[in-house]
Amino acid sequence: MDLVVRNGTVVTASGISQTDVGIAGGVVVQIGGSMPEDAPTLDATGCYVMPGGVDVHTHLDSNDFSTRSADDFGTGTIAAACGGTTTVVDFCAQGRGESLADAIAHWDSKAEGKVAIDYGYHMIIVDMNDAVFEELGTLPDRGITSFKIFMAYRGMSMVDDVTLLKSLDQAKRHGALVMVHAENGDAADYLRDKFVAEGNTSPYYHALSRPPRIEAEATARAIALAEIVGTSIYIVHLTCGEALDELMRAKRRGVDALAETCTQYLYLTKDDLDRPNFEGAKYVFTPPARTKEDQELLWDGLANRVFETVSSDHCSWLFKGHKDKGKDDFRKIPNGAPGVEERLMMVWQGVNAGRLTPTEFVDLVATRPAKVFGMFPKKGTIAVGSDADIVIWDPEAEFTITQSEMHNAMDYSSYEGREVRGIPRHVLLRGKQIVRDREYVGTPGEGQFLRRDRYVSRA
Ligand code: URP
Ligand code: ZN
Ligand code: ZN
Ligand code: ZN
Repeated sequence: MDLVVRNGTVVTASGISQTDVGIAGGVVVQIGGSMPEDAPTLDATGCYVMPGGVDVHTHLDSNDFSTRSADDFGTGTIAAACGGTTTVVDFCAQGRGESLADAIAHWDSKAEGKVAIDYGYHMIIVDMNDAVFEELGTLPDRGITSFKIFMAYRGMSMVDDVTLLKSLDQAKRHGALVMVHAENGDAADYLRDKFVAEGNTSPYYHALSRPPRIEAEATARAIALAEIVGTSIYIVHLTCGEALDELMRAKRRGVDALAETCTQYLYLTKDDLDRPNFEGAKYVFTPPARTKEDQELLWDGLANRVFETVSSDHCSWLFKGHKDKGKDDFRKIPNGAPGVEERLMMVWQGVNAGRLTPTEFVDLVATRPAKVFGMFPKKGTIAVGSDADIVIWDPEAEFTITQSEMHNAMDYSSYEGREVRGIPRHVLLRGKQIVRDREYVGTPGEGQFLRRDRYVSRA
């Protein structure tokens, strides 16, 4: 036995038990029973022992919005690890005119030698032609079993419905899952340009130019296209009651329509975009933050298993140097906000509030995303044979979220000043301790690429 995690309370998606966990060769080899006395020990007294978080939506080293993000795979995955996340699935973005093979090689070069935790890729398709269509079918053999399509951002990443249909068809044929950014891009651009023409250029108008109906319409259309092709679909960053209604309507007619929400939609509202001194720009992400009422509906959706997961959509645009490009025109503010490290702590507040049980929490932040994206049971659980990716979670520790305590390369936290109870104290990656007392003690580059399993459609 290489390590025994002793005296903790093991939480998985299926239950809670006071038991020890034995680890050898990077995997869990024993749960409960008598452990060798002389084995190295990690004491988890007073703590929960949970599977490492699985964050299936990050943009760690992004070139979107003609800007290079502050985080790369080094700082981004170290921050993830310190937040209790041991697996990320990052978006590998095809450039215009670029082959998918070249896009993957580009992402591999970003990750090489830097990654602190295990990682996979989703492929973002922006440019479809016959060659790309064929290439798409080969991705699952390379362990890339999900593709993202944007219905917004014309001129950057938005595609037409034909590209979405073709992607859905290829995904169906080859066992992949299509993820959509569901917003009616033309409607958003129309409102946006109208606001600016009327002299309304502050960050708040970002939220007003992308109302819930823009998201709900695209959500319904994306689901309808998946239905027409006869396959499954995954809606990324679903934010509001109106889009949730479309999702639930589809589920009721038997469509295999899946969705995630993100941490920021549970805590921030559109009023945050109206903070003085251009601070609102920190909360410019897409779709925008909504209302308190929407937050309640999202929490209900989490408790009722309507959502598969809560992901971070981590984007690292600096307040000074990136966001301030849009000081006189909100259209120039790079969209996105950080949160890969804060995600677990913030969602855990739902446990403190009685909205989620600890087992539901584990299911949402680790088990279900690992299942949907073809990584289970290697990732997302504590079971004999699973990777020993483990978080020692101290449920009583009190902590104030503040940027100086985060491990990314950012200059702000989306949750600055929020007081939380419950923190990831220690983290193991494949049995090796990579975080001790919330400090990174691993070796950059030890993260491994995950070849993910195919998606088995229920459509
Ligand atoms: O504002 C956001 N969410 N930026 C990241 C790109 C995306 O749409 O996921
Ligand atoms: Zn998106
Ligand atoms: Zn995103
Ligand atoms: Zn630190």
